[in-house]
Amino acid sequence: MTVATAPGKIILFGEHAVVYGRPALAVPVTQVHADVEVMDSPVAGIWIDAPGISLHGEISSFPSSHALRTVIESVLRTLDISAPPPLRIRIISSIPVASGLGSGAAVSVAVIRALSSHLAHPLPNEQVNALAYETEKLHHGTPSGIDNTVITYARPVYFVRGQPIQAFGVARPFTLVIADTGIPAPTKESVGDVRKLWQADAGKWEAVFDKVGEIVRAARQAIESGNTPALGPLMDENHALLQEMTVSSPELDRLVWAARKAGALGAKLSGGGRGGNMLALVRPEDAESICSVLRSAGAQQTLITTLQETL
Ligand code: MEV
Repeated sequence: MTVATAPGKIILFGEHAVVYGRPALAVPVTQVHADVEVMDSPVAGIWIDAPGISLHGEISSFPSSHALRTVIESVLRTLDISAPPPLRIRIISSIPVASGLGSGAAVSVAVIRALSSHLAHPLPNEQVNALAYETEKLHHGTPSGIDNTVITYARPVYFVRGQPIQAFGVARPFTLVIADTGIPAPTKESVGDVRKLWQADAGKWEAVFDKVGEIVRAARQAIESGNTPALGPLMDENHALLQEMTVSSPELDRLVWAARKAGALGAKLSGGGRGGNMLALVRPEDAESICSVLRSAGAQQTLITTLQETL
């Protein structure tokens, strides 16, 4: 049996504008993960067993555009294997689906790793990342590639579409609260809606994306210099720009507002928006109480994560 795991991710700054070439900052969230086991099977075919989403079956019975089918076929093509041995692939993920935590990319990365290792050709990170990106493209329209990148490399990244990834250092630890609205929000829709806005008035939206880019650069500087309190107001500014892009929602705004009122230093939605998760920068001693305020304000789940010093 071969096993692989991939973490969730959260975008700290720069979602949506990153699709248009501006930088974004994202970090892995290891408290949630996708775990994949690949084992030989006595029954012919490649059998999927994903109890969390009640998915069981042989992949050739899945629609040809199914995410799991496409990712498995792309691994077999890359390894030049036309007649794979009978296999069973078991997928267990604790990452909520369509919540902005990168569940789809994490499952892809873990499947690519476990399957290629089981077939005796473990793929290097670069190829894992490239194959996961191909699957993201099939299912999310015009993804920037940030989700698969931060999940493949499992470390904080400063990401610019099409450029080699840049790791960034954390000079002083800081604590985030992540809260899930519980409303599934497929990234494809919000990304598509922002594209329509941009197509209707590119000049206006390019200027908005430029402002996001400035926020991201300032945030990176704050993290690298240990000036973490500065991240709070930057989160608030980034959230206002995401509201302008129409990707917030009453539920996200309610959680963002509740976090700030409960003492967070700043808060914003994270990921595609419309539903899914928000995040707040908090003093470590306030994290638990802010989580309970957020649950009272409607959050279905909360997580506390601390970015450790890396410099
Ligand atoms: C989704 O996690 C982040 C977005 O910026 C889309 C993308 O970068 O592909 C909304």
